Order: sequence, then C-alpha cells, then structure tokens
Amino acid sequence: MKVFLLGCGSIGRYLATAAAGMEAVDEILIYDNHPDDIAAFVGSLSKGRTVDSLNGISEAGLVVEAASQEAAREVLPLALGMGKDVMVLSVGALVDDGFRRSCQSLALEKGGRFMVPSGAVCGVDGLRSASAEELDSVELISTKGPKSLEGAPFIVEKGIDVHSFQEPAELFRGSARDAVRHFPKNVNVAATVSLLGLGFDRTMVTVVLDPAAGENRHELVVRGAFGSLRAETRNLPFPKNPATSHLAALSAASALRRIVNNQWIGV
Ligand SMILES: NC(=O)c1ccc[n+]([C@@H]2O[C@H](COP(=O)([O-])OP(=O)(O)OC[C@H]3O[C@@H](n4cnc5c(N)ncnc54)[C@H](O)[C@@H]3O)[C@@H](O)[C@H]2O)c1
Repeated sequence: MKVFLLGCGSIGRYLATAAAGMEAVDEILIYDNHPDDIAAFVGSLSKGRTVDSLNGISEAGLVVEAASQEAAREVLPLALGMGKDVMVLSVGALVDDGFRRSCQSLALEKGGRFMVPSGAVCGVDGLRSASAEELDSVELISTKGPKSLEGAPFIVEKGIDVHSFQEPAELFRGSARDAVRHFPKNVNVAATVSLLGLGFDRTMVTVVLDPAAGENRHELVVRGAFGSLRAETRNLPFPKNPATSHLAALSAASALRRIVNNQWIGV
C-alpha cells in the first residue's frame, strides 16, 4: 500500500518511521509546506518520497493528515471525494458541525473510510461501546501545569496569572464546544471524546490548573445504561515536541498499523 502523509512534524516523522517498518507499506509520499525542513529526514527514510502538492493523493491507498486543522479542512474533502481512506490527527477541524457532516456524507457516498485515532486519552474504547446505548453523562477532567495553560484565550481574557497558584484549582467547567474555544490546545482530546459520545454540547469538560503537575492528566468519566467507567491517563510529553503527548503519537502509529494490516482487534 502507498501511504500519503500530509505533515512531517513530530507526529508525522514518528508515523513515517513506523510506516517504513511495516511490511504492508510499499511507499510513503510525504507533503509538508516546509519542504526544506523535511528534506534530510525524508532522504534518510527508506520507502519515503517527498511530493510537492496534494496531487499525489490519487496514487495512495491511505491518506494520513498530521499537519494542522487548516490542512485537515483542505485534505478531507479532497481525499474523501476521491473515495480514499483518511486518518485525521487534527481532530479540532471536526468541531465545525457543517464541515464534519459533509465529510461523513462524502465518506458514505464515495466509500472511503474516515478515521480518527484515540489520541492522548484512554477509556475511549469503553466510551465507544457504551455509546451503542443511551449515555447519561460524559465528562472529561483535564489537569495541567501552568506552562501548558499559559496563553490560552480563557486565561488571557480573564487576566489569570497561571504562576500565582499554590494549590490545584478548577478554572473552567462547561461544554466541550466552549472548552475547545477557550483552550484550543486541549482541542484534540475534547473533540475525540465528544465525537465518540454525546457530542460537543452535552460532553462536559473541566480544566484544572495544578501548580505541581509534571504531566497532562485526563480523567474520562462515563455513565450510562452499562454502568460507569473512570479512566485516568497521565501523559508525558513527546520528546520531539513537548506540546504533543507521547501517547498521541503512539496511538496514531498503532492505528496506522491496524489500517495497513486490515486487522481490527478491539475495534
Ligand atoms: N488526535 C490527537 O490526539 C492529537 C494529539 C496531538 C497532536 N494532534 C494534532 O496533530 C497535528 C500534528 O501535530 P505535531 O505535533 O506533529 O505538529 P508539528 O507542528 O510538530 O508538525 C506539523 C507539520 O505539518 C506541517 N504543516 C502544517 N500545516 C500544513 C499544511 N497546510 N500543509 C502542509 N504541511 C503543513 C508543518 O510544516 C509541520 O512540519 C496537529 O494539528 C496537532 O494538533 C492530534
């Protein structure tokens, strides 16, 4: 299979390296809008080839977006319109209801699959199963250190000094739709959980600042006809990009392996 990789930053490079080691992958076509930055990496990658536009998508059996929300908004309609399978990392692009629905329709109409890895949060397997029946509530409690929250629109608007806290404090509680607007860096986890469960308006998100937090912590609490689940993830940063959780890169590589091998254990 040929894989088209859009975005060759920290997750993209991890994915490209993982893909190069997969027997089922013949070639990885790589497009990044900073071609000079990726030349040496792609040159050192077996099975890797740089392409200079999205045209290469027509050759690929799978398209992987690991770039940005802007890139996802461009590539999803294009690739799904060609009936290609697409794995999207920049899940924030799917918060827009109109855009998401048009992608879902294209996938159904043209036969391409539209895939989102579980990312940096655990417990999504249980949430996915539980959502086959009525869910009572889905709550995501994200605990972060001052550095991770610094500069978030909510913090800036409220004039909060993130370095002034001595104890953990709840900064925000509201719908996932409001949370992703106020804390865009948290968008991927909140969006993935919302898409799997109750949607952006009924999924509740709490953001806690913990001055002593050495990692980003996510607690997913789901209640429904099945009973309840509580899953806690303590994420270490990805060494190549501290803004990304290590587990997000692993989850993307693991999803890629399942897709190219067409093996779906634990779907
Ligand atoms: N689903 C999840 O749980 C999860 C977790 C972490 C990150 N992400 C998302 O995955 C994406 C990649 O993350 P990363 O840490 O590798 O970022 P990164 O900044 O390290 O790399 C992004 C790369 O994409 C390229 N790029 C950006 N926009 C582009 C465009 N329009 N066309 C072509 N190339 C473009 C950049 O030049 C860069 O090389 C981000 O959108 C991030 O929010 C998702």
